[in-house]
Amino acid sequence: MNLVVVSNRVSRGKPNEPMTGGLAAALLPVVEKTGAIWVGSSGRVRDGNHKEPFAEVEALGAGALAMLDLPAAHYGGYYEGFANSALWPAMHSRADLIRASHEDYTSYREVNAFMARALLRFRKPDSAFWIQDYHFLALGAELRDLGVTQPIGFFLHTPWPARAVIAGVPNHRELIEAMLSYDLIGFQTDEDCENFLSYVQNDLEFEVRDGVINSSFGRTRAAVFPIGIDPSKFAQQATKAMTHPDVTRLRRSLNGEKLAIGVDRLDYSKGLVNRIKAFDRMWSLYPNLKRSVSMLQIATPSRGAIEAYGNLANEVAKLVTDVNGVHGEVDWTPIRYLNKGFGQGVLAGLYRTAQVGVVTPLQDGMNLVAKEYVAAQNPADPGVLVLSKFAGAANELDAALLVNPHDIDGMARTLATAMAMPLTERRMRWEAMMEKLNSGTIQQWFADFIEALQETHSAGNAALPEPPTLWPRRTADLAARYR
Ligand code: UDP
Ligand code: G6P
Repeated sequence: MNLVVVSNRVSRGKPNEPMTGGLAAALLPVVEKTGAIWVGSSGRVRDGNHKEPFAEVEALGAGALAMLDLPAAHYGGYYEGFANSALWPAMHSRADLIRASHEDYTSYREVNAFMARALLRFRKPDSAFWIQDYHFLALGAELRDLGVTQPIGFFLHTPWPARAVIAGVPNHRELIEAMLSYDLIGFQTDEDCENFLSYVQNDLEFEVRDGVINSSFGRTRAAVFPIGIDPSKFAQQATKAMTHPDVTRLRRSLNGEKLAIGVDRLDYSKGLVNRIKAFDRMWSLYPNLKRSVSMLQIATPSRGAIEAYGNLANEVAKLVTDVNGVHGEVDWTPIRYLNKGFGQGVLAGLYRTAQVGVVTPLQDGMNLVAKEYVAAQNPADPGVLVLSKFAGAANELDAALLVNPHDIDGMARTLATAMAMPLTERRMRWEAMMEKLNSGTIQQWFADFIEALQETHSAGNAALPEPPTLWPRRTADLAARYR
């Protein structure tokens, strides 16, 4: 089988560069090992008057990376617009932040159609396509429209929200009906999968039996594939990183103080404001923790051109300044706040240095940082993970200290408990979490999905795809525009 993996964001696999998000971090090692071709955006745009979409292709381990320049006229409406100002807030149950014009939707559709055309050049008779994330909900339908009959799978890295929330997305019916052109749709958690099926059953009124949907496209299976990491690689990286200058400088600067670490993109789903408020509350409730516990928050800039992200960056920066102003001393800074990224090799050492990992999103598909923090710990003296119960990772990492990220007092108390946890309890919890990480690695995730995709496809879904009732047949027009 020739696997073609498709996502908006890709990684070039440069060891010292930070990963931009969990999707790229997760896919890199599997593409490198399995020899798949990974197609995504180059981050550059060009106008549409070219015969062939421009792709820069390079080797990536045993696989290859193809980075496409996306159409200039539609990139903003697709990426900042529909994908990240309509779908992302909806997926994270922030219907209040949904902003999308009809032009944004058109651009989203145009980029999906453009990508479908570009993918044809990577198609072989034994190809299978695996589309990733909310940027490309309609890509399967566009590929089917171009005559692709091979297996096409889809995996959603974010949560899937309740019916009423997704209904806030313009054109939701058309888009979700288009998703039924996939043979297999993978979700992070049972709840995401149930929400999706409930929409399909109640709003689209298609028959659903045992996770299989019968629609005008044929049969689509929806199932759960919680994404993992490579825990042994992270453990090795963490041991190695302890001598990295950034890590040794951090350790030296602590003077015996305990450290809590947070590592997140600057995104409103990550619960950064409530987290900083919880630390503020912790130092007020337990003044003895001043000077003995500090916090390192790595907050990598993300999607800065979108207003909600700009507002968040300002709000968090102001809050950190206020909290440091209130609790700080001439020789002590409570919160070290960095707006930059680190390569995973260094990050692993930073995780290992911190006695507490704080992962408190309001909503999160999985959250790989939570898993990485656990894998990076010293088995003889592991740190404690404080984890939001609304992160997908909480389903597996139930031995973490689970918190409600809306309950600031509760989080403050849990942070204090984490700081004081005795070694025996820390080890017990850590071992339980490591067992989960080892049984659900990224390699296993990949193998499980591909196996299920092949099974589902050969179980009869290959039946000729009829276009769904609401799906306009216009790919040919779009394709002509880019020819
Ligand atoms: N990451 C990184 N350098 C940084 C910050 C984050 O390489 O400075 C990586 C981190 O190791 C993880 C990913 O970015 O693999 C973040 O994934 P997660 O699922 O936690 O969140 P997302 O950003 O996808 O919402
Ligand atoms: C999340 C999304 C990914 C995305 C990443 C970084 O993990 O699920 O699809 O790549 O965030 O966001 P960005 O917009 O920078 O690619």
